[in-house]
Amino acid sequence: MMATHPVWQYDEFKQIGTDYESVEEVARYDKRMSSLRNIDEECAAIIELLDLGPDSRVLEIGSGTGEFAIAAAKQCAQVCAVDISQIMLDYAREKAISRSVNNIQFARAGFLTYDHDGKPFDAVVTQLALHHLPDFWKAIALRRIWHMLKDGGRLFIRDVVFSFNVDDAASYLDKWIDGAVAVGGERLGQNIESHIRDEFSTFDWAMESLLRASGFSISRITNQDNRTFAEYLCKKV
Ligand SMILES: C[S@@+](CC[C@H](N)C(=O)[O-])C[C@H]1O[C@@H](n2cnc3c(N)ncnc32)[C@H](O)[C@@H]1O
Repeated sequence: MMATHPVWQYDEFKQIGTDYESVEEVARYDKRMSSLRNIDEECAAIIELLDLGPDSRVLEIGSGTGEFAIAAAKQCAQVCAVDISQIMLDYAREKAISRSVNNIQFARAGFLTYDHDGKPFDAVVTQLALHHLPDFWKAIALRRIWHMLKDGGRLFIRDVVFSFNVDDAASYLDKWIDGAVAVGGERLGQNIESHIRDEFSTFDWAMESLLRASGFSISRITNQDNRTFAEYLCKKV
């Protein structure tokens, strides 16, 4: 049973930006991601980076259409895949069944509401999801993750994070939108516009402070050339 939360708690179940409670949007997202990303390579790199193996227990938050959870479940003892969208969870569960993977526990919950009562996790992974929370709530989310990890456990984050100077924001954001239109058409460009306007991507310096204040050391930061994506490999200290 999900715990009750104070009335002032941020409602992480409301959809912001893209509506992931729409069956059509979720199918479109899955198709788009498989054409824009090399998913198998990405998943293998994260599994290697986190040194996941047959005994590992992993939590993924914002698991989306299930690609990472399924790849990790093939290598690990147990994967918990958490997402606020029931449609995403149903889609990922179907995909796992179709690939004969049966050691994933799916849960409808999020960064602020997932309650873990088992053994601490070896690793937590979250990709393209933390930006759904404003910065104050990102800190709460990161500290909740810290509590769910074993000592020395690893956190991998990949997200839209801005590493340009504030004064250069407009030119980098315009370039990002133009690049998206070039590879994915007008619709992807509109998704990027609504991401910037309606979602909560933050600056790299804010993200680094949030991670350290939440009790993590940052082992590796990788920024993309366009300065709109970053990856963080962190350790619970
Ligand atoms: C852009 S998709 C990313 C999906 C997947 N991780 C990937 O890399 O393709 C964002 C996902 O985060 C989920 N999400 C949004 N807010 C969330 C929250 N507060 N807690 C957990 N998941 C959330 C959405 O439902 C959606 O499935």
